[in-house]
Amino acid sequence: METVKFTQMKDGDREDYAFLTEHEIEYAAGTSDRLLAAMVDLDKSLSGYKVTRLGHSLQAATRAWNAGADIDWVVSALLHDIGDIYAPYNHDEYAAAILRPFVREQCAWVVEKHGDFQLVYYGEHVGANPHKRDAFRDNAYFDDCAEFCEKWDQASFDPDYPTRPLEFFAPFVREVFARKSYDPAVIRTGERMVMSDDLIAAKRSTS
Ligand SMILES: [Fe+2]
Ligand SMILES: [Fe+2]
Repeated sequence: METVKFTQMKDGDREDYAFLTEHEIEYAAGTSDRLLAAMVDLDKSLSGYKVTRLGHSLQAATRAWNAGADIDWVVSALLHDIGDIYAPYNHDEYAAAILRPFVREQCAWVVEKHGDFQLVYYGEHVGANPHKRDAFRDNAYFDDCAEFCEKWDQASFDPDYPTRPLEFFAPFVREVFARKSYDPAVIRTGERMVMSDDLIAAKRSTS
């Protein structure tokens, strides 16, 4: 069998769909490599800053790594702007949709809302509401998103910051996207992991 027998989905049988499931599993296994290739494309997007979008993403991930944050945070920081390529007006939601099946709920929420939270830094200069984030004050992850933006996102436009290369983060991306999607042990609903750990950070600074 090289292709399914049907031309309309409603005519497919068990054999067709078993065949497709196999293909899907194989294709899904390549997600991390496709994402890493997309990160390289980010290098060409949004000019005008002192760093490229890839440079910004690597810097955010490096800051997360240096702070001693866990792998969910580091990969989320790396991919938080990946939506810029295809969804310039809701890049945060787009990135969150990619991450959501594979990282903690906390991280997916922060990535989804980071666009609104970032407005606190520049909304007044572009005629947008700098206080848009206030709509989420009651959310359990409000402080996490505020910290993500303050320490890793808005701060990561410095061309002189010693930033780690994409190859350094590639194994983390592969590990996260090899997880079972929507595994409750990964999603850990409602759990808040710290974004910085001094002991881990000290160990990482010597490695
Ligand atoms: Fe962003
Ligand atoms: Fe960003």
